[in-house]
Amino acid sequence: MRDTTWVFGYASLIWKQDFPFIEARDGFIDGWTRRLWQGSHDHRGTPDDPGRVATIIESPNERCYGRAFLIEQSVFEHLDHREKNGYERFNVPIQFATGSSPGITYLGGTNNHAFLGPAAMDDMVAQILRCEGESGRNIDYVLELAHALRQMGVTDTHVEAVSEAIQHAE
Ligand code: SIN
Repeated sequence: MRDTTWVFGYASLIWKQDFPFIEARDGFIDGWTRRLWQGSHDHRGTPDDPGRVATIIESPNERCYGRAFLIEQSVFEHLDHREKNGYERFNVPIQFATGSSPGITYLGGTNNHAFLGPAAMDDMVAQILRCEGESGRNIDYVLELAHALRQMGVTDTHVEAVSEAIQHAE
């Protein structure tokens, strides 16, 4: 039997699969909420001017929807490298329409070196409009995330509010 794991994606993993997977399913994790509070010194910014990307924050009464991928163990090498800027593998039960499965997500914890935390909307907008990294413009990350969530039928008020504000300001 193959040694496989479900990985729960809540941001770029939803729309950018540069890794092999056996199966993909929509799912959610309870007690977490998505926020654009993680710094990106590599993909969407630079060490001197980090961009703003997503992490999940513990929030007892909330639910974070995303997409889960069943992968072989060997794929973690690639994912660990892709998510290296402050994210750590974190065990989490993933809820599917068919029931719950143990899984892993990449958590940018509040104590990691790249964590930015909340900021005033105007400041977040200015940062997102300005920043760019090796994977492209920070604004494209936020717009892709908002688009991917809408396509899945997910309403995320935080991501929607930031996405609308950057489009107004552009
Ligand atoms: C994820 O997508 O689950 C992790 C955060 C990211 O790479 O944007």
